[in-house]
Amino acid sequence: MYEKFFFLKENPFNITPDPKFLYLSDKHGEALNLLFFGIRERKGFLLLTGEVGTGKTTLCRALMDKMDEKIDTALLLNPLLTDIELIKTINDDFGIGIDGNSLKDNLDVLNRFLIEGVENGRNAVVIIDEAQNLSPNTLEMIRLLSNLETDKSKLLQIILVGQPELKAKLSLPELRQLNQRIIVRYHLMPLNHDETKSYIFNRLAIAGGLGNVSFNPDALDDIHWASGGIPRLVNILCDRVMLLAFVAEKRLIEKGMVTNAVNELGKEGVVSLDAGHLPNERNRLIRYLIYIGILAGIIIFKIFEAVGK
Ligand SMILES: Nc1ncnc2c1ncn2[C@@H]1O[C@H](COP(=O)(O)OP(=O)(O)OP(=O)(O)O)[C@@H](O)[C@H]1O
Ligand SMILES: [Mg+2]
Repeated sequence: MYEKFFFLKENPFNITPDPKFLYLSDKHGEALNLLFFGIRERKGFLLLTGEVGTGKTTLCRALMDKMDEKIDTALLLNPLLTDIELIKTINDDFGIGIDGNSLKDNLDVLNRFLIEGVENGRNAVVIIDEAQNLSPNTLEMIRLLSNLETDKSKLLQIILVGQPELKAKLSLPELRQLNQRIIVRYHLMPLNHDETKSYIFNRLAIAGGLGNVSFNPDALDDIHWASGGIPRLVNILCDRVMLLAFVAEKRLIEKGMVTNAVNELGKEGVVSLDAGHLPNERNRLIRYLIYIGILAGIIIFKIFEAVGK
């Protein structure tokens, strides 16, 4: 809606996991490198977890885009499937035939495909997104998939991707065999203050609008605070702020606009409006007074200690 006003080619703050907008923070870069390492070294199971909206699906898509031609890939975005549906979807993504409705037949087809692949110097990867929604039974079935191996290495690399509940699920006693097999793990943390700024400017640059809009430093501070550095929340907040700026016909984003956007989104339940969440002037002052109080207490204590000696 505001793209024209800011001379943008497209919306910079869409919430679709589009790898074109990928910003490789140190954390996202580390996660990607670790996943590539696990695939290359045929480590079998890999695990990528992170809070809601931290960029897990975006990373999976980036991983798929950058994957070598010699790697066959299957990406499962909706794991609410039965065991047989799951195997059929994997086979379908790999472009191999589906063999009736028997789990065993379909597993045999997959096994043959993987063995032929290894013989031809290929590797195969299955990425299962939203894996926190898989039932323990399905997770156990997925463990059996990793039994497909040659004497030397795993035929299939399986990347489980999910929200923190996935880690809790994997630590259930009945899933310990699976949990013990996961050698490569990465937990994606939110962006820090500087990364949040770079993230915003990176998205604006890709959308062709860097220089057509600017942000006051305290507006950026508040975007980071209110979003907690969670990329999806940064997008939602920036989108609202840009809209407010467009309505006010301003190309400079100011702190007040962020406060208004946070209030609107807070009422919609999208961001938290916890008292003190946004570092307004009053909260900043209270914090400084507390620090000064603690410091004064320590100094007085040290003076009394010295006098007492
Ligand atoms: N590193 C990044 N670079 C660019 N955009 C990102 C990055 N990380 C996240 N985003 C953006 O944030 C939004 C949420 O990302 P994504 O859907 O990948 O998160 P998620 O961790 O998969 O969330 P969920 O837990 O809900 O599945 C998307 O708009 C995505 O484009
Ligand atoms: Mg996701």
